[in-house]
Amino acid sequence: MTIKEKTRPLRVLQLTDPHLMARADGDLLGVKTRESLQAVISEVLRVHGQPDLILATGDLAQDGSLDAYRVFGKSLQVFSCPSTWIAGNHDQGENLERVAAEFDANRRHVIQGGWQFVMLDSSVPGKVFGALADSELDFLANTLEEHPHLPAVVALHHHPVDIGADWMEKIGLTNREAFWRVVDRFPQVKIVLWGHIHQEHEGERQGVQLMATPSTCIQFTSGSSKFAVEDLPPGYRWFEFHDTGDFTTEVGRATDFQFDLDQTSTGY
Ligand SMILES: [Fe+2]
Repeated sequence: MTIKEKTRPLRVLQLTDPHLMARADGDLLGVKTRESLQAVISEVLRVHGQPDLILATGDLAQDGSLDAYRVFGKSLQVFSCPSTWIAGNHDQGENLERVAAEFDANRRHVIQGGWQFVMLDSSVPGKVFGALADSELDFLANTLEEHPHLPAVVALHHHPVDIGADWMEKIGLTNREAFWRVVDRFPQVKIVLWGHIHQEHEGERQGVQLMATPSTCIQFTSGSSKFAVEDLPPGYRWFEFHDTGDFTTEVGRATDFQFDLDQTSTGY
């Protein structure tokens, strides 16, 4: 191993809430979700080049169709690294799992670069809010128990803390106390990461860094008391993880992407 390889950080890309559809020109409030995802992917390649791992944190499909998941999988083939997918409130769990298996994106515990990534399914069929079933909480606890020495990123779709937007209060993780009871037992958890809120968010809770990331399509207005969208470009989050347990992160956006957002909408 050369010195360069030894010191190179692990490069991780988070993509979230692409809301793809079977229809090639499918849009969300005027934003064609396939085009905005492609714009984000081009931006990632232009700015960073290849990642080593991709975390896809839910709402991969708006319509839950097999076609939409396959479009997502094929879109990621420009990257030469593995990805791992979890469901959001818009996803159809069985279809997502089936296509994730086709693209080898169904591992929910990944160890890479001296870090571990635990992907949790917080989706509840037919509901916008999220909850972690006992089986998910057990999976989290057992995984962290088995790997106490690797710094951990725990990812899920729904926000497990208040993000200061009234309309989103009821659509977060409903059993967040149970989630934090598990996380609080494991000091190796460094980051809790999610999607769902279609905006950048950063916070801290008892030494754990809390992060959410813009959608690859439309953005919700941060801090808004009621549903509102903001004409910010589609985005992603980039991480560089060091095997010392340190990391850096940044949000990037496809600023050249042209779109005509319907800002009069009262829902999505
Ligand atoms: Fe979403």
